[in-house]
Amino acid sequence: MPGLAKPPSKRDNRPLSHFQPGTSMTEEETTMAEKEEEILVLFGSQRGTSEDAARAFAKEAPQRLNVKVKIVEMDDFLESPSWRTVVVIFVSSFGTGGAPMGAQAFRKFCDRVITDYTDNQDKDGFLKGIYIAMCGQGDSKYQTYQENPKTIVKALTMAGAELVGDVGATDAENRMKQQEEIRQWIETIWDPLSKVLADAPLAEDRLQEMNMNTK
Ligand SMILES: Cc1cc2nc3c(=O)[nH]c(=O)nc-3n(C[C@H](O)[C@H](O)[C@H](O)COP(=O)(O)O)c2cc1C
Repeated sequence: MPGLAKPPSKRDNRPLSHFQPGTSMTEEETTMAEKEEEILVLFGSQRGTSEDAARAFAKEAPQRLNVKVKIVEMDDFLESPSWRTVVVIFVSSFGTGGAPMGAQAFRKFCDRVITDYTDNQDKDGFLKGIYIAMCGQGDSKYQTYQENPKTIVKALTMAGAELVGDVGATDAENRMKQQEEIRQWIETIWDPLSKVLADAPLAEDRLQEMNMNTK
């Protein structure tokens, strides 16, 4: 409610004394207090479906989750990795279960991770502590239905990331229905994301370590 002091969120690192009951914060302070954590939205999209979905999600997320949002195409992310504690992915399959343009290097990275962790099952998960949510786009006419999103989830979870909510599988066989499925997935993911965002985010040095191990 405008004008009323709000309690600190769990993600606010400032001391509690800063938020005495009854004192009011300026609007700028309120924004800083509430939007301290940044989530990462990654997309890979050949024809724009996943990108549009990612942008729609990213537009709504600050208000729904009280977070800042960084949205990046998957291969651009890989050029200069900057993991955040919560990562939401929108990606399609292309070719024969492959990745769309702009996400092919990321898929190669995932394939390497799967090989590494299959060969060395005792290897520590370098993405332990990260939460991922996935909305995959595909077409059930293909035998390799949803293969790229599934492979990405497999790789990131093998590397220690924890899956949040259900993996979305939207089907372009019926394009109108696919749009509804995307909307539905977005609607059902706010709650599970809010729950994981209530925990403290990973420390910057831990995230830096992950960035260095992402190659
Ligand atoms: C040439 C071509 C290859 C495709 N290959 C697959 C595939 O292997 N598996 C799948 O599930 N969907 C496949 N699809 C369907 C797309 O993943 C689907 O249309 C999706 O909604 C596209 O999303 P995007 O616009 O974000 O790329 C293919 C589509 C085309 C046109």
